[in-house]
Amino acid sequence: MAVIADRCPQIQVTVVDLNAERIAAWNDDDLSRLPVYEPGLDAVVGRARGRNLHFSTEVDAAIAAADMVFLSVNTPTKTRGVGAGQASDLRWIEVSARQVAAAAQGHTIVVEKSTLPVRTAEAVKAILAAAQGDAHGGKTFSVLSNPEFLAEGTAIADLEAPDRVLIGGEDDAAIEALVSIYGQWVPEERILRTNLWSSELSKLTANAFLAQRISSINSIAALCEATGADVREVARAIGSDSRLGARFLQAGPGFGGSCFQKDILNLVYLCRHYGLEAVASYWEQVVSLNNWQQHRIARKVVQSLFGTVTGKRLAVLGFAFKADTNDTRESPAIRICRDLIEEGAQLAIVDAKVDPAQIARDLEQAPQEIAAAGSVPAGEGGWLPVASAEAAAQGADAVLILTEWAAYRQLDWVAIAALMRRPAWLFDARAIADADAARAAGLTVWRVGEG
Ligand code: UDX
Repeated sequence: MAVIADRCPQIQVTVVDLNAERIAAWNDDDLSRLPVYEPGLDAVVGRARGRNLHFSTEVDAAIAAADMVFLSVNTPTKTRGVGAGQASDLRWIEVSARQVAAAAQGHTIVVEKSTLPVRTAEAVKAILAAAQGDAHGGKTFSVLSNPEFLAEGTAIADLEAPDRVLIGGEDDAAIEALVSIYGQWVPEERILRTNLWSSELSKLTANAFLAQRISSINSIAALCEATGADVREVARAIGSDSRLGARFLQAGPGFGGSCFQKDILNLVYLCRHYGLEAVASYWEQVVSLNNWQQHRIARKVVQSLFGTVTGKRLAVLGFAFKADTNDTRESPAIRICRDLIEEGAQLAIVDAKVDPAQIARDLEQAPQEIAAAGSVPAGEGGWLPVASAEAAAQGADAVLILTEWAAYRQLDWVAIAALMRRPAWLFDARAIADADAARAAGLTVWRVGEG
């Protein structure tokens, strides 16, 4: 919405939320305190806010004034009831649709921006249609699907120069109204028009294919380690085939983020719902492999450290699900750290952007002072936030790199090795560190996918 406001100064954009604290943060004079860390976002908000970009808790008033309403609420995986663990929880979409139905005036175009299961638009339409019938309303609605393909960390660049914008709908006038907004900065040939159901399904499919590529390369990484091949060489070799392409072939600790797992599970649930068991179990494997990869890395650490990490201090560099974001949702670091804590390890965790309170929530454990290396193994695992890679490495037996923050490419391995207990290890789950330098400094180095 900030980018739309930035690119379309003639359009008034009002972002509303029930959460007053969040809205206040979006209105904070200090742009470094916006609730989402995203490179370039502060500049965009700084340019548009107060001019034609507004943040408010006046939800009904904003709906009433709007020609177009984007439903951008979260649709997490259900945790209970039918479809728990797989289906999307659509309660916030429904609540929002009902609120739009009640508060809208005149003709309103309702755009599904949230990622939704196929045929959700039917429910949204039904709710809106009920209001349309209201005698004293005089209101009418059109529903469009306009899924978002941006990735975190590159969101602004992705929005400013998207590979494509997808608009699904049945009402040509509504579609063209939305096209005219994106058309302000997106070339016409990149704006794809589809029917509603294709648009909804394309989002799930794009994420499923992307995640599948990561599980595929991670599966081959394990085979590389076993055979003496190097997954980066394999990735380069296969990525040079123009039919495959070079991107999204980076082996790592498994994919995280708010979308991939959720969307695949949702796809799996939909397939089962339509009786397509073989299709469901095909996609389910992408998630299973990803879980396996995360557990595998924790197991690798334990095995290497003579079969036990109890009472040992381990330095964990990076907790976000990828670099350039403070987001930890489904971060592979969560499962890996939990496994190691379960094994009794003492983790010193550093991430420049992630709030330690968030790490505590993810690990479901408050931080505690960790025992000095070499002290009698206490048995209970724990974790402590630290401010730098050096502070993390102090007295540690191993350094684990779990997020590909740029700073971890240039660590001073001589200095870090000097702080560690010997023998010392580097487990580089992102294969970004200078492995030669770490080896030269006396560390035993494991890199994902390197045989
Ligand atoms: C993803 C999709 O890319 C985006 O189009 C969609 O709108 C939302 O979901 P995002 O979750 O922000 O975006 O991040 P992405 O860059 O796709 O990375 C997801 C995960 O895969 C991260 O944990 C990342 O580290 C991992 N990844 C990515 C790899 O392990 N290897 C790769 O080659 C690429």
